[in-house]
Amino acid sequence: MTEMDKRILWFQNKGKLCPTRELIKTPEQIEGIRCAGKLNTALLDHVTEKIREGMTTAEIDRIVYDFTTAHGGIPAPLNYEGFPKSVCVSKNDVVCHGIPSEEEVLEEGDIVNVDVTTILNGYFADASRMFIIGKTSSERERLVRVAKECLDIGAEVCKPYTFVGDMGNAIAKYAHKNGYTIVRDLCGHGVGNAFHEDPDIEHYGKKGSGMLLVPGMVFTIEPMVNAGDWEVVVDEEDGWTVYTEDYSDSAQWEHTFLMTDEGLEVITY
Ligand code: MF3
Ligand code: CO
Ligand code: CO
Repeated sequence: MTEMDKRILWFQNKGKLCPTRELIKTPEQIEGIRCAGKLNTALLDHVTEKIREGMTTAEIDRIVYDFTTAHGGIPAPLNYEGFPKSVCVSKNDVVCHGIPSEEEVLEEGDIVNVDVTTILNGYFADASRMFIIGKTSSERERLVRVAKECLDIGAEVCKPYTFVGDMGNAIAKYAHKNGYTIVRDLCGHGVGNAFHEDPDIEHYGKKGSGMLLVPGMVFTIEPMVNAGDWEVVVDEEDGWTVYTEDYSDSAQWEHTFLMTDEGLEVITY
């Protein structure tokens, strides 16, 4: 039994939710996920260069598809459980899973999340950024900034042999302190060998709850921060688009992380 096996067993005996072997990546898998992460980051950098006022979200979809395939990758969202496009683009009161459209134009003052996931040689990396189109209100600027800080704070408190709930607790506290709420219906996730793996990474909750996090695990943190209430609704027509129930604005940033002996390493920088 390795030192890690012993430590995991100790937590298991205390009734804690612990990772199975498949959730702890091998060095070879980590190498593959790093490569997917590099391409995914290059893609987000490419989107950052191209995104501008007046563009349709369908144009962003084409940019993502063309760049990814030109570099030997596959956009993971395309046909994922029926999702029709290569990227999620979520504006203003859209929380996540916005479907790119020829009808949707980026306008001055919009706050937009672009969420890309890349498959390279069978490995997955997942990240998203917010973009402010032209000049926006100071309230929207603050929401975008605090959402980024929620991700950074979550990543910071996340150390080996702590729990998902320790991180979620810190993130929600920070959001609430700023007058915002955290979406509860959607969460981060294990990633790397597939798009969505265990564990669920909830961005709220009690310290000590959720899965134990150990070196070798790869997962996303992606808090969805609402300016109003935390409740969301899914568009009945397209079955994907998630809106805030009260039409308040929502912001989200996401990275894929590797847990190391020291803490989290960002895979999607
Ligand atoms: N990229 C999203 C996430 O962070 C998932 C999108 S699923 C899709 O988990 F089908 F809408 F692409
Ligand atoms: Co994502
Ligand atoms: Co994700």
